[in-house]
This record gives sequence, C-alpha cells and structure tokens, in this order.
Amino acid sequence: MTKSGQETHKHNIDYADLLAKALEAAASSYSPYSKYRVGAAILTDDGQVFTGSNVENVLIGCTICAERTAAVKAVSAGARRFVACAVAAPGDDGCYPCGICRQFLTEFGRDQIIVVKNGQDGHSARPLSELLP
Ligand code: THU
Repeated sequence: MTKSGQETHKHNIDYADLLAKALEAAASSYSPYSKYRVGAAILTDDGQVFTGSNVENVLIGCTICAERTAAVKAVSAGARRFVACAVAAPGDDGCYPCGICRQFLTEFGRDQIIVVKNGQDGHSARPLSELLP
C-alpha cells in the first residue's frame, strides 16, 4: 500500500489525478436513498479515462455502483483493458469496491491498480488481485 505522491507500477499513472476525476464524478451521483455519493475513474491501456457515479434505485438490488457505471461506459466505448480504477466518496477515506464490482472489474484486468482516498491529499493504491479471494 502507498500513500501520497505519484506512484509507479507497470505504467506511469498519476493516481492523484485519477482520484480527483473520481471525486469530480461523484457530483453526478444519483443517490437519494443512501445519500452516499460515489465516483469512479477508470484509466484504460490506451490512456483514456472513463468516469461514473453510483446510480441508485428504489429496488436496492438494481443499484449500480460508480465503478460499474465507469466500467460499462469504458467497455461499451470499445475499451477492454483497465490499468487503474480510482474510487472516491467525498469526505470518506478508503471507499473500496464491493465484491460484485471487484469481480466485474477483474474481467478487464486483474492487475489493474485500485486507488482510494487516504487522508486530506493522500491516496492508497493496490492491485485488484490483492483484493480478490
Ligand atoms: N457504492 C459505490 O458506488 N461504490 C462503492 O465502492 C461502495 C458503494 C454505492 C452503492 C450505493 O449507491 C451506495 O454507495 C451505498 O452503498
């Protein structure tokens, strides 16, 4: 796990920038039930960034997390390999993807780096494979 600054794994990824885009995406969250805004930003292997927010439904099982919104936007635009996925809930540290999102993201890159907020201007970055059973 890492904290703050720019980290380098296989690719040169600006984690702070990706996290900032995830935070920005949280502004579009549709979350009248939980009132919990979440945003995600996915960096693909060709350098594109796709963002998404959680979209809730009165039927709780229909709710779509921010990560899956971003993932579906990316894949339906033709992307197939994810390099990193940042997740952010304003004011909250360590908002990690839920089990279904971990499984969903894995389809498009087991080695992608999951980035979450850690403190005021910090972040934590770890491979998705570490978060899976
Ligand atoms: N949520 C996400 O969008 N991503 C996460 O990683 C955690 C949970 C959403 C789902 C639901 O709309 C709300 O947060 C409360 O669980």
